[in-house]
Amino acid sequence: MNVEPTAGAAADRPMIEVRDLRKSFGTNVVLRGVSVEVQRGSVTSLIGPSGSGKSTLLRCCNLLEIPDGGQIRLGDKFFDFSASKKSLSDRQAAAYRAETGMVFQHFNLFPHMSVLQNVIEGLLTVRRMPAKQAREIGLEQLNKVGMTDKQGDYPGQLSGGQKQRVAIARALAMSPEVLLLDEVTSALDPELVDEVLAVIRQLAADGMTMILVTHEMAFAHKVCDKVIFIADGVVVESGGAADVFENAKHERTRQFLARYNRAGHAEVRA
Ligand SMILES: Nc1ncnc2c1ncn2[C@@H]1O[C@H](COP(=O)(O)OP(=O)(O)OP(=O)(O)O)[C@@H](O)[C@H]1O
Ligand SMILES: [Mg+2]
Repeated sequence: MNVEPTAGAAADRPMIEVRDLRKSFGTNVVLRGVSVEVQRGSVTSLIGPSGSGKSTLLRCCNLLEIPDGGQIRLGDKFFDFSASKKSLSDRQAAAYRAETGMVFQHFNLFPHMSVLQNVIEGLLTVRRMPAKQAREIGLEQLNKVGMTDKQGDYPGQLSGGQKQRVAIARALAMSPEVLLLDEVTSALDPELVDEVLAVIRQLAADGMTMILVTHEMAFAHKVCDKVIFIADGVVVESGGAADVFENAKHERTRQFLARYNRAGHAEVRA
């Protein structure tokens, strides 16, 4: 793998470019040459059937999985996975990961740490930031997700929606260039979904670049700028949310969206 800085970031080029990304697990070929572009400040949703490779793509974008081939450029960082087998150093990977804040379905908060401690942990350990400064940033991010008054609570004392908002604040504390959200509302009771979606909607309004894997079709349709439909490890169709949802070109996409369309664009979990 080659890691090269790319010179002269043009203002108008996509913030993220994924080219011909390939990933297998043993004999299971999961990503078969996926190319994706994401504009700065946009919200992109990845939709598709279970097992189609959505999480794998997101995890590759964060280097939690190392692709077998293809390229990823994020801002001025460029990784070419096809060039050679030189492995990525832990330091390079950790630095990169901090710029691609990832939020998971199951929160992954530390149970023995308070809300504020969870949020500032990365600043203290990865960034080695003085505690006072980290605390200020932590409180600012908790404020963004409406969790300031719970700063001293432990994760076990919080609802699922509150835990997920803390997990989002924790990712934001590292000031990532992009936020990658993998089914962040899937583990929540229905009445808690909206409070998390409201936070994502506000982040979108603030111009945060986000890629989210979601089964919430109405949210993808109505809030996202761009939709990418993935099936069997390839991008079947991508485009503006209205185009993909209302005017899909491919039969496979139309089939996938049929239930949502039949429901009159009311929220369904696909
Ligand atoms: N770490 C792993 N080791 C082995 N196989 C894996 C691993 N991660 C994913 N896979 C396999 O890759 C395929 C795609 O999985 P992935 O999690 O990317 O799908 P998905 O589109 O996110 O599905 P879902 O909507 O159910 O979350 C599946 O066949 C899965 O079993
Ligand atoms: Mg998944």
